[in-house]
Amino acid sequence: MAAKNLQIALTRRLTAPIETRMGELFSVTYNENDGALDRDALLALMQSHDVLVPTVTDHIDAELINDAGPRLQLIANFGNGTDNIDVDAAYARGITVTNTPSVLTEDTADMTLALILAVSRRLVEGNRIVHQPGQFTGWSPNWMLGQRVGGKKLGIIGMGRIGQAVARRARAFGLDIHYFNRNRVHASTESELAATYWDNLDRMLRHIDILSIHCPHTPATYHLLSARRIAMMQPHATIINTSRGEVVDEAALGRALSDGLLGGAGLDVFEREPAVHPALLNLPNVTLIPHMSSATKEGRQSMGEKVIINIQTYADGHRPPDRVLPSSATI
Ligand code: 8YV
Repeated sequence: MAAKNLQIALTRRLTAPIETRMGELFSVTYNENDGALDRDALLALMQSHDVLVPTVTDHIDAELINDAGPRLQLIANFGNGTDNIDVDAAYARGITVTNTPSVLTEDTADMTLALILAVSRRLVEGNRIVHQPGQFTGWSPNWMLGQRVGGKKLGIIGMGRIGQAVARRARAFGLDIHYFNRNRVHASTESELAATYWDNLDRMLRHIDILSIHCPHTPATYHLLSARRIAMMQPHATIINTSRGEVVDEAALGRALSDGLLGGAGLDVFEREPAVHPALLNLPNVTLIPHMSSATKEGRQSMGEKVIINIQTYADGHRPPDRVLPSSATI
């Protein structure tokens, strides 16, 4: 089908240059007021368009995919993670799914380091004190002491692109790199990062000072950081999560933090976004940010460009570069 004849539905506003370019290339339905769409609105778009461009806030489950009807051919996700889409159901229906990998790696890694530093060095607490009248009464030797970052052991769960980008930065801060991954990474990567591989997550958790999570959310990683595993960590240890909230048992994490059994946490993602477990709120050693690790102007532009390339390649009759397949699928 000629690209201009493809009917594309955007579920959210994208950057102005991306929307303009999409309008030049395709026939586009925009979400003018940018609110998250409910199921009925999503279904209506899926039934009346050839391509859906959803984001992390759209849950495209098997029921929606099965009710979509014959028109929908491509789900071009504006995002790297595809846990918001039932990729198996789409594959079974012959609907192609694509994502936007690589272009958010460096931004996400930068924010991960920002959270490691913020939690270890009490940055947000310090900022709050200076802004509250009468709280900053002058320097004293034992005031606002945090934990030194250099020399500490950083444990990374998920040593893919983002995990490695975090490790590279962390090395510059003098952190000692440990990792747990489905597969051991190539020996040259291990040696570049001076990274120690653990084939047993429980053992790594007992050993490290800072944990950073970079694995996708799948049925296998749901609550990977369970109450049992959180309890294994050292009482001064901190947990950083910029991947998906579902990987951590948020209620158990909240309990451990409020009971003083962990040193702190820095979280960009939550189990039931945008809801945040009340036990995580108002704790001095917890820094919470609203799913913004990849939120740079440049990153959003690159994500949009990837979406365009995926749609255009599909329209030209080729396999899109960022096709996502179910783990069991053969091409
Ligand atoms: C994106 C993300 O902003 O791409 C991802 O997987 O988690 C985010 O950083 C979001 O998904 C956009 O849909």
